[in-house]
Amino acid sequence: MTAAEPVDLSVADLHPALGDPALTSMNFLNEVSERYPGAVSLAAGRPYEEFFDLAAVHRHLDTFHRHLVDDLGHRPEQARRLLLQYGRTKGIVHHLIARNLAVDEGITVDPEDIVVTVGCQEAMFLVLRALRAGPTDVLLAVAPTYVGLTGAARLVDLPVWPVAGGSSGIDLADLAAQVRRARAAGLRPRACYLMPDFANPSGVSIDTAHRRRLLDLAAQEDLLLLEDNPYGLFHSDDGPRPPTLKALDTGRRVVYLGSFAKTVLPGARVGYVVADQRVAGPGGRVGPLADQLAMIKSMVTVNTSPIAQAVIGGRLLEHGCSLVAANTRERSAYTRNLRHLVAGLTRRFPDQPDRPAAVRWTVPAGGFFVVVTVPFPVDDALLDRSARDYGVLWTPMAHFYDDTAPVHALRLSVSAVTPEQIDVGLDRLAALITDELTRRAG
Ligand SMILES: Cc1ncc(COP(=O)(O)O)c(C=O)c1O
Repeated sequence: MTAAEPVDLSVADLHPALGDPALTSMNFLNEVSERYPGAVSLAAGRPYEEFFDLAAVHRHLDTFHRHLVDDLGHRPEQARRLLLQYGRTKGIVHHLIARNLAVDEGITVDPEDIVVTVGCQEAMFLVLRALRAGPTDVLLAVAPTYVGLTGAARLVDLPVWPVAGGSSGIDLADLAAQVRRARAAGLRPRACYLMPDFANPSGVSIDTAHRRRLLDLAAQEDLLLLEDNPYGLFHSDDGPRPPTLKALDTGRRVVYLGSFAKTVLPGARVGYVVADQRVAGPGGRVGPLADQLAMIKSMVTVNTSPIAQAVIGGRLLEHGCSLVAANTRERSAYTRNLRHLVAGLTRRFPDQPDRPAAVRWTVPAGGFFVVVTVPFPVDDALLDRSARDYGVLWTPMAHFYDDTAPVHALRLSVSAVTPEQIDVGLDRLAALITDELTRRAG
């Protein structure tokens, strides 16, 4: 549309979040990749598509249907209604999710404290909508921050205050300082959002001792923690995984956000939230925060598609409710790719300690993401040039910070590519970086 065309509305008259970089970020990144379909994408945090299997989707649906009839004793018409009719707001696979959390994470949760959502994205939205009670409320979030969280916070008018992440995953001194600073300014920090396992985008994980210290601090400061855990299963060593915050949480401090996008299927759009916090209602009635979230959900998406839930439920049932067991092939592919990418970076940028303009990168212990730091600012214009002239896509880290300061880093993802594509992508990225360094030196 050109500027001369008549318009009916102005974005200035719509919700202020529209047009905010947090909301336009994902569309911008998708648009770039659509404009350059021949480019190798080290940008997308999507799961590997070759593992998708349409026949398995039908089988999962049948498995869940059989479970309704054989295990839960539903009559055929009841089972049909559960799958095809409007349904329970909090979902129909909550009992299987509770079993999954017990089997894989050692988390004991009452299924009634779970709300099954349209992806983790809806879970984040519901929680933020519920917590934002007034104009003095703020949300703390470990920076760099997943842009879907920042965007959801914008939509409910909840300012996001960054907390330093650093190499430990969360700087506890900074968290305490930010809480104090917010309170001194008359504001009310409602919660702190973080990803303790292979964070998106930093790739950093928090060790067990630090998790315990974080829970202690949260108790001291009377702060909720929003734990987002889409990547925790994809660890690249064979040792035990650190317990989730929720598994260590004895004081109902942690709201746990789950996604089946990476562990089952993103197309099902199913996630969930565990919200066991006790909420005092009118007349002294006490119920879980999950019930309040369900009330909001009933006005947003009514209920999560039961067909989609059944696909997830069937997959869980076929693996004894263990997503660890269901993802052995995926975990080994992502681990192989992560190692391949790190080795490829090491080969292309051999250590030059005497060179101040060195290229550096993180070496995460799992997950999808590696952050490469370069001696020049990385912005959308450079991404566009990278796609057009070099044929490789990545994500500028600036997208994950809530200010306009230049960021000298980019995020690479290993999840949706083969080792051969990683090689091609890294050759192209190395050419871009070398040319950029030469250009700036000259
Ligand atoms: C950290 C994080 N949280 C939440 C989500 C959204 O998950 P879902 O696809 O289940 O909405 C993603 C998706 O990439 C993510 O990286």
